[in-house]
Amino acid sequence: METKEVQKAVIPVAGFGTRLLPATKSVSKELLPVVDIPAIQVIVEECIESGIEEIIFITGRGKGSIEDHFDYDYELEKLLEERGKYDKLEKVRKISSMIRTVAVRQKKPLGLGHAVYCARDVVGDEPFMVLLPDDIITADPPCTKQMLEIYEKYGQGVVTVMEVPEEDVSSYGIVGGESWAPELYRVRTLVEKPDPDIAPTNLAVIGRYLLPPVIFDYLEDATPDDSGEIQLTDALARLARERALVGYEFEGMRHDIGDKLGFLTANIAHALERHDLGPELRDYLRAKLDEDVL
Ligand code: UTP
Repeated sequence: METKEVQKAVIPVAGFGTRLLPATKSVSKELLPVVDIPAIQVIVEECIESGIEEIIFITGRGKGSIEDHFDYDYELEKLLEERGKYDKLEKVRKISSMIRTVAVRQKKPLGLGHAVYCARDVVGDEPFMVLLPDDIITADPPCTKQMLEIYEKYGQGVVTVMEVPEEDVSSYGIVGGESWAPELYRVRTLVEKPDPDIAPTNLAVIGRYLLPPVIFDYLEDATPDDSGEIQLTDALARLARERALVGYEFEGMRHDIGDKLGFLTANIAHALERHDLGPELRDYLRAKLDEDVL
């Protein structure tokens, strides 16, 4: 199928991150590290490895340091050069030359749907990715690349879905529909945080979306919910109803780092994978668990 190329990714970072307070009072949650890499860099690297060419950050008050992270830092580079710390200099330079970034300000945190709508002028009339930086997904190929492949095949919007325990469905957007190929669902309905009794499935929408530009029209028409927020789920539900939406059960491991436990497990899982940290951390965890058993 002939499809327009997906070149741009929108990453909303304007939320307050209240679940991780007080850590996030003056530090953006997106800059909290997964071992020694800020979460937002892990997400940007996923985009680059998937062939995305431009990142659009939706920022808010106090989020300037995210833009700074991807900008040149001449003073730091000069200092590292003078001190002969060339390995660190290379790491710092790599970040600033990674990819083209644009920042659009969301003046009020009026919800995820509103945040995505803020990217309308920069995205234009093209399909685009949305990545929520809370969801750190380890996968090979990267989750975004898997989604681009689905899009190239079917030419429709794609959302990633994941099975969650029944008691957790009320914390997610849940899809309803039917499976039509391994790992693929034709999404018919989407319900935000449903009561387990009325949830159509236990398939939760995770923070990766590949969206056609018509989503901006749906977001423009969307009415705010009781808390005054524009939900992306409502626009996705309309997309599923009026056009088509594929639910894709991605291959990979996902951690929600916006949540305390998810933040810890992401750090442990990533550290265990590293040659420089994995063996010692494994020994430490084993010893600690043995202690607890005694
Ligand atoms: P969350 O619902 O996780 O909100 O937003 P949050 O403020 O980041 O975190 P908590 O729940 O208070 O701990 C999902 C994503 O949407 C962005 C957030 O930055 C996050 O990446 N977002 C949310 C916006 O950019 N603008 C908004 O108005 C709301």
